[in-house]
Amino acid sequence: MVNALKLGQGPSTAIAIPNIVNFYRYFFPMRTHYCGELRASHIDKNVTLYGWVDRCRDHGGVIFIDLRDRSGVVQIASNPIQTPDSYPIAEGLHNEYVIKVTGVVSQRPSESINPKLGTGEIEIYADRIELLNQVSKPLPFLVSGDETELVKEELRLKYRYLELRRDRLSRNLQLRHQVVKAIRRFLEDEQDFIEIETPILTRSTPEGARDYLVPSRVNPSQWYALPQSPQLFKQLLMVSGFDRYYQIARCFRDEDLRADRQPEFTQLDMEMSFLSQEEILNLNESLVCHIFKTVKQIDLPRPFPRLTYAESMNRYGCDRPDTRFGLELVNVSDLFKDSGFKVFSGAIKSGGSVKVLPIPGGNEAFSNVRIKPGGDIFKEATEAGAKGIAYIRVRDNNEIDTIGAIKDNLSPEQVETLLTLTNAKSGDLLLFGAGDTDTVHKSLSRLRLVVGEELGLIDANQVNLVWVTDFPMFEWNADEKRFEALHHPFTAPNPEDLADLTTARAQAYDLVYNGVEIGGGSLRIYQRDIQEKVFETIGLSLDEAKSKFGFLLEAFEYGTPPHGGIAYGLDRLVMLLAGEASIRDVIAFPKTQQARCLLTDAPAQVDTKQLKELQVMSTYQPKP
Ligand code: AMO
Repeated sequence: MVNALKLGQGPSTAIAIPNIVNFYRYFFPMRTHYCGELRASHIDKNVTLYGWVDRCRDHGGVIFIDLRDRSGVVQIASNPIQTPDSYPIAEGLHNEYVIKVTGVVSQRPSESINPKLGTGEIEIYADRIELLNQVSKPLPFLVSGDETELVKEELRLKYRYLELRRDRLSRNLQLRHQVVKAIRRFLEDEQDFIEIETPILTRSTPEGARDYLVPSRVNPSQWYALPQSPQLFKQLLMVSGFDRYYQIARCFRDEDLRADRQPEFTQLDMEMSFLSQEEILNLNESLVCHIFKTVKQIDLPRPFPRLTYAESMNRYGCDRPDTRFGLELVNVSDLFKDSGFKVFSGAIKSGGSVKVLPIPGGNEAFSNVRIKPGGDIFKEATEAGAKGIAYIRVRDNNEIDTIGAIKDNLSPEQVETLLTLTNAKSGDLLLFGAGDTDTVHKSLSRLRLVVGEELGLIDANQVNLVWVTDFPMFEWNADEKRFEALHHPFTAPNPEDLADLTTARAQAYDLVYNGVEIGGGSLRIYQRDIQEKVFETIGLSLDEAKSKFGFLLEAFEYGTPPHGGIAYGLDRLVMLLAGEASIRDVIAFPKTQQARCLLTDAPAQVDTKQLKELQVMSTYQPKP
């Protein structure tokens, strides 16, 4: 070691390098184990551990230290008799100090075994403790201890590196790593996919959200867009012959944030040539099964159930149904089309519909106060766009009870048909949505989730994966009075529907996991005439299309294979696998609802000099 202390004085680097190695070996000998992996099978083994002091307790002469690393916590003990060398250091330890511990693993006395802890059967009497670093400021919050302890999210995000020491988040990030590892192993080793990186500084992609833009210094007044997805590049890679491509790809979308949306998120992006839709779905089921088996030891039943978009909208009022519970919607438009109750018949006459959410036993759970204006159920419906909510309560002997004009306008035969259609019994509540079909679906599908949750119908441990297929090619944008592509304009129409593209079904599919859209993709158009028709339908002239995606259209002229693909929201998938309610909890450094990083305080102002170089000026005027 003497040599080591003379570092830098040696005659040549050839001598200095082994000295550095010795130096580190002496002061920092190799870790033998991670804390959380130690078990009774390690008893009598000499171990060296590194980590943070989770907490210390002085039990009258014996100091117990919970030592934490990314794998978990193990109990270290020190007393003046058994471990005189380490005791004085143990006495001076505090939470979050960084230490190295060497000692022998021993059995805990039976009365102090902790069955809740993986390492709860053992402890390590520390022959040696080295203090590697201290904490020099008061901690902003307690890292150790009860996870449910309420610390404001802002504070946790500002000190995210401390929060990531906590068990829950640390486990989430490790799960994320396991998922990515499983994906890579399956796609690369079993399915011959290769990973190719695509540019981050690029042109706007057609995913439909707002772009994040980056000014170009060397091309003044021109801007790169950060990719909303690698869509165009992955299709170009198919033209290049990389017939099975994947990428763990960072994507950027400037859209309103929710619990399952971040401005910057990660996709598992895939594209394949020469496969039919059926083959793509099959391969993807194998991939998803592999992930579940590897990280959760769950064997998913196959094939995954499928719903067409039309069926999903009909039964659940949305295209990402949570199929873990029933409460399916019932269309009663036919029954009410000539009703004297104008709210219903009027809605149908103007092209809308009347649908019912039947709630078995709902009379007891949902009082009139909750359904009428001012009530929480009313609020849920109106926030989803409904003007109000009508209801009928089914009483004994199929008597119905309601307020206002519905009852007066229902004949006994109609009541009977209604009860048959909705399969309603005494005690059940029928909630009605009437109006344009879109709004009826939005409000009733929202109520379905609220009611399902409140009645305890949703089993948190159940995993329901369902493919939703046959999306429409286009949706009508009423504001701009034009059709727009529901997925993106390169999605192939169903060959049976080419006669009228405006009503055509797309060869597009989404994978929905417990009501969350975790992935979506499609077969792509690879014939020029169909592509031109699609542009025409969305009102994009060929010139405009060329100026936006000319490079892609040109590439398609040089021998394009039939191809298709899919992208998964990796954050969403991991969120569900981790049992979390927000994707922020599975992203190391997420943004807030206002798209801010509280740790680095981004976005931030930059030097005027930088802006000048970019020839960019802010037009922002603070409100007076
Ligand atoms: P899409 O736009 O459906 O398809 O996106 C694919 C998946 O990405 C996830 N996702 C998000 N996750 C977090 N935050 C966001 N802001 C966000 N936006 C989307 C969702 C979604 O299912 N290029 C096509 C794919 C293809 O056709 O191959 C695409 O990006 O889980």
